Amino acid sequence: MDNLTIKGGNPLNGTIRISGAKNSALKLMAAALLTDEPVELRNMPNLADSRFMARLLSTLGVDVYWPQNENVCRLSAAEITSSIAPYDLVRKMRATFNVLGPLLARMGHATVSLPGGCAIGARPVNFHLEAFEAMGADILIEQGYVKAAALRGLKGAVIDLPFPSVGATEHTMMAATLAQGVTTINNAAQEPEIVDIATMLKAMGAKIEGEGTSSIRIEGVEKLKGVTHSVMPDRIEAGTYAMAVAATGGNVLLEAAPAAEMTSLIEHLKAAGVKVSVENEGVRVIRNGSRLKPVDVDVQPHPGFATDLQAQFMALMTTADGTSTITENIFENRYLHAPELNRFGADIRVQGKVATIHGVETLKGAPVMATDLRASVSLVIAGLVAEGETVVNRIYHLDRGFEKLEEKLNACGASVVRGSE
Ligand code: UD1
Repeated sequence: MDNLTIKGGNPLNGTIRISGAKNSALKLMAAALLTDEPVELRNMPNLADSRFMARLLSTLGVDVYWPQNENVCRLSAAEITSSIAPYDLVRKMRATFNVLGPLLARMGHATVSLPGGCAIGARPVNFHLEAFEAMGADILIEQGYVKAAALRGLKGAVIDLPFPSVGATEHTMMAATLAQGVTTINNAAQEPEIVDIATMLKAMGAKIEGEGTSSIRIEGVEKLKGVTHSVMPDRIEAGTYAMAVAATGGNVLLEAAPAAEMTSLIEHLKAAGVKVSVENEGVRVIRNGSRLKPVDVDVQPHPGFATDLQAQFMALMTTADGTSTITENIFENRYLHAPELNRFGADIRVQGKVATIHGVETLKGAPVMATDLRASVSLVIAGLVAEGETVVNRIYHLDRGFEKLEEKLNACGASVVRGSE
């Protein structure tokens, strides 16, 4: 299994180009199932997760052309040969569950494995299934599979989400594009990735209004056409590198970083004493000398502070000059990184959904274990700051979501080397 050895203490200086957003790309790929015409996705992040989605789509009969290391992916679902997404492919990555809605909308039936829980919480899919039922689908759960049928097509409905779930909003929106009549999603999630997906769907001929607000209206159409779409830049990747620079000190331009989608993080960084400026090419992050100030974080759905940036902010606060707290309101078990960060000499105590971080002067390198995607990268940030050597084990989590991580960091002066146990 691969690991990363980090020699800490180097400031970061230079430019990091931000890749396409993983969380958007995965759903855009699933949306290719909605049309029999070709879909070309540009600015695609080359990640284990996006490659994995490509594999699942191939098993459904989608013609996938995506050469290694390229950032353009061509998908053609002219003919869907199977509407079954097997357990082996769905259990490894939850986002693959998002093929259910498009298959159901286009084919009238689909059988998709339930994704199961994951390290950060139970993560059920009840909102997704309730939405499809409200749209007239018959849903049966058998031997771990969701069997869904809407043989005479999905019908528009009013969906009141109990919580603004990102996945359920996207999934319902995609399926509703081909339903008969109007679907309204109330209490919809407002994440920028939803706007990116709606933008592509509209270019395919879908009729959508209100994306990016808490109420989305979708008027079903008979058919969607092909499209060329560029995946939005990854605000989570950009935010992660912003915090890496804030932690180590230095001056880095995050090229193509979507500043408008990062306002909560930018405010928190500024409150901590980090200089953040929005430039034509992206976002510049500067920190010189003085210690970071402690800042409290309340994790909320967008436009609040993103849960996918919580672990990294915790890593940042470990060396702040005072005590800070984080309240995680999205996932029930998203503090797996806290004990690992304490292995660096940090002082973090977790009680329920609140973590209290007493800042220490320095971190010391340590062997640590990655537990989930965003937690892993918080350990990398701690390793970049810590004195001495850090080995981050089980980094397959990192490869799921960060394109060319070592390359990007090393180009700015870090010392991160990939090896194997
Ligand atoms: C997506 C992102 C993930 C991010 C999360 C929240 C992708 C691939 N993943 O995950 O990186 O951390 O949004 O911003 O885009 N819930 C239910 N029932 C459901 C659905 C969700 O109870 O049917 C709960 C979840 O357990 C969780 C909360 O709602 O506590 C939010 O989850 P959701 O917004 O759906 O997250 P994902 O779409 O899975």
